[in-house]
Amino acid sequence: MALPALLKDCLTLPVIGSPLFIVSNPDLVLAQCKAGIVGSFPALNARPADQLEVWLERITRELADHKAAHPGAKVAPYAVNQIVHASNDRLQHDLDVCAKFKVPIVITSLRAPDEAIAAVHAWGGLVFHDVISVRHAHKALEAGVDGLILVCTGAGGHAGGLSPFALVSEVRRFYDGPVILSGAITRGEHILAAQAMGADLAYMGTRFIATPEANAVDAYKQMIVASGAKDIVHTNLFSGVHGNYLRGSIERAGLDPDNLPTADKSKMAYGSGSSARQKVWKDIWGAGQGVGSIDAVQPAAEVVAELQRGYAAARARLQGIAFWLDRQTGRGAHERQESDPGGRRRRRHRRRDRAPLRARGLRGLRDAAQRRKARTPARAHPRRGRRSARLRLGRAQGGRGRSSLRRSKPRSGRWRSWCSTSAATCVSRFARPPHASTPRSGRWRRWPASWPVARRPG
Ligand SMILES: Cc1cc2nc3c(=O)[nH]c(=O)nc-3n(C[C@H](O)[C@H](O)[C@H](O)COP(=O)(O)O)c2cc1C
Repeated sequence: MALPALLKDCLTLPVIGSPLFIVSNPDLVLAQCKAGIVGSFPALNARPADQLEVWLERITRELADHKAAHPGAKVAPYAVNQIVHASNDRLQHDLDVCAKFKVPIVITSLRAPDEAIAAVHAWGGLVFHDVISVRHAHKALEAGVDGLILVCTGAGGHAGGLSPFALVSEVRRFYDGPVILSGAITRGEHILAAQAMGADLAYMGTRFIATPEANAVDAYKQMIVASGAKDIVHTNLFSGVHGNYLRGSIERAGLDPDNLPTADKSKMAYGSGSSARQKVWKDIWGAGQGVGSIDAVQPAAEVVAELQRGYAAARARLQGIAFWLDRQTGRGAHERQESDPGGRRRRRHRRRDRAPLRARGLRGLRDAAQRRKARTPARAHPRRGRRSARLRLGRAQGGRGRSSLRRSKPRSGRWRSWCSTSAATCVSRFARPPHASTPRSGRWRRWPASWPVARRPG
């Protein structure tokens, strides 16, 4: 992970809510930051230009108030997007306003942003630049950016044409700084996948259009909910650069999405004179190929909470699979020992702690447990309720019930339930970090050899 210090310990998820022309506004940015992901907006969304100061004043004040009212909460910093293009006649003005508020992150688009970088670094901000190819990545790094946003195929708005697998791995060959990945990322598991590929953060736009905070008409939000990847059209007609748009919105505008003419780059116009561009984006709605995973219009905080659940579930699933594979192949214990130098000493201690119990044997253990249980009233005993619930669950799933529990590893509620449930359930429940597991302990040898391998937890 190559996260800059600014982003350490303040995120609930490794996510940047990407800037969306017309759609992002202070409401959305504030909701995202308060939920613990970076919120951002294009400076050009604040119109006329002097609105930018009003927006930044509100965002900085409300975030400071929120932090003061919730001292333990994770509140993410915000970002402002600057389009670095010759036609953007507001750029210098907007950078000056950003300097006044010491905007923590500036996201630059289109051109390698030499002048902007110097200005942002002067007030201590970070510059992330979005690129769609290795050539652009090299240019941005030469200019001195602090992180690369890889805009891959399937992204909403202006999108690249490269697969994220291809672009991330090529960029990682020469760059080990912060990499932010974008393109159809809409679910918690996608965020984990982006990290597995080598990215540090996910960059998500379309997912946040279907929120009440977003500045988009209801029909746009509903079309996102109703669409799938097949409804996304890739064309350069509307802005001179290839981008992804909703098929339904093109049809509503009276055009045939399957027979669109191509445009030339000279159509690109940003800044205060881009009202034609604004009109186009108001009627022709941008969205990425991830629309198929968006099922409802929900507040941004709920979206983040749902992403967190998906992310945690995907992590647990992968840890379970890794644990299970290690067990099946006999690998893992050795690797874990190597990656966890203190582990061997801890394991020795654990064995020593257990020695007297072992000496007493299983029967002694069981008698001791029964004596303890008899002494403790049912409700006061921390394990009794849970234990019988697990027994019931185990039996319902065709487990061996109490007899298998008796054979199981003592003093750890978790292992017991596994013993009487199916292998798949064991895997999906496993959520402990590998170094905390108890590999190859003598206990497991007690499992009857007649049990099918898939039933045995070790
Ligand atoms: C409606 C819309 C407007 C966008 N406007 C901008 C913009 O003004 N500046 C920019 O850098 N990126 C813009 N993007 C691109 C996003 O910042 C981001 O790259 C993209 O949304 C990520 O892909 P996803 O939508 O599949 O999550 C826009 C995307 C959409 C869908």
